Amino acid sequence: MARLNSPSPLRVGLCGAGMMGATHAAAYAGIPGAKLAAVWDTDLKRAEALAARFGGTVYAHRDDLIQAVDIVDICLPTPCHLEQIQAAAAKGKAVFCEKPLGRTLEECDAAIGACKRAKVPLLVGHVVRFFPEYRTLRNTILNGDLGDVGVLRMKRVVCSPGPAGSWYWDFEASGGCVLDTAIHDLDWLNWTLGRPASVYGVGFRDAPSLKDLAYLTLQWSSGAIAHLESSWSHDTFATSFEAAGRDGIAEFDLRDCAALQVAYTQAASDGGGNVVPESPLAKSPYQAELEHFVAVVRGAAKPLIKPEEAREAVELALACLDALRSRQPVRLPSRRGGPSARTAKPRARALPAAHPE
Ligand SMILES: NC(=O)c1ccc[n+]([C@@H]2O[C@H](COP(=O)([O-])OP(=O)(O)OC[C@H]3O[C@@H](n4cnc5c(N)ncnc54)[C@H](O)[C@@H]3O)[C@@H](O)[C@H]2O)c1
Repeated sequence: MARLNSPSPLRVGLCGAGMMGATHAAAYAGIPGAKLAAVWDTDLKRAEALAARFGGTVYAHRDDLIQAVDIVDICLPTPCHLEQIQAAAAKGKAVFCEKPLGRTLEECDAAIGACKRAKVPLLVGHVVRFFPEYRTLRNTILNGDLGDVGVLRMKRVVCSPGPAGSWYWDFEASGGCVLDTAIHDLDWLNWTLGRPASVYGVGFRDAPSLKDLAYLTLQWSSGAIAHLESSWSHDTFATSFEAAGRDGIAEFDLRDCAALQVAYTQAASDGGGNVVPESPLAKSPYQAELEHFVAVVRGAAKPLIKPEEAREAVELALACLDALRSRQPVRLPSRRGGPSARTAKPRARALPAAHPE
């Protein structure tokens, strides 16, 4: 604890040296209050390559890494999150974990419980909350500038995450495009409009080629509707939204405004990971997110993402998967209180004639 209050940079222990591990390592390089100190990965070569690029000592054993650092950052396949969160919390280390918090709600509950008992912060990488466009849209809606919002259309599509045969290709591990990719928008919708009353979806999955696609429809008890396109079947990364309210429409499309887009073929990549958006003009949202984590650990900021909200995002994604599987609308239990429930009420508009389910 004394170390967390000292002015020297916090020593970061990075678990996972794949695509997100590299993204986080690059982000820490721009954060004066933190320093990449240690890297661990079951693929030792990958850990060494990352440390050679960004610094830090490579550890062959996770527990040695945890011992050597102040904070632990988990960029591992989703089913590995819980074990590492528990190990870090047991040693009193603050935890940043990539989204989704867990593959199941039981994993989420166990992770939240471990950090609560250890009294350590747990922040989950719902990075879309740090993208200026999505933040601005949320503020615009919550300020009432669009009037009551009735319809939202959101899209997040990417190529099949590679390489072939990686953990992403095991649906039981990754949860496919809905749990892994659409969860960003689902979290944003929960955060902005509150929990929807029901979800419905259609899609297809071709396991051998890892083509996965879902069209999801979410409806709030007020009648407000969101349509969400999620895909691992495109050639590159694209994201967009359109929000229509009584008084106006807000639109964003990454393809219209990206200063630079680079798409690598999977064969050329070093294996692992999909595409993350980059901008040469602005501070990376990943850096903003990790800066926020460091500020939370130092007690200088209140967490922008509560662990329970990360659990709610998983809950909503799992409901969407249920709807896709059953081809039936799935109702979500109504929630008592919660920050997003409070914001939902005054903002979501009652449509004149909602379709009966
Ligand atoms: N926030 C975002 O924008 C975003 C984007 C992509 C992925 N993610 C999330 O980040 C996490 C990591 O994804 P990624 O794309 O970096 O995956 P990846 O496959 O690129 O990297 C995972 C790394 O973990 C290592 N690994 C695998 N099993 C391990 C184990 N049991 N113990 C230790 N190391 C192990 C692998 O060797 C690999 O280096 C996932 O939860 C994913 O959902 C977040």
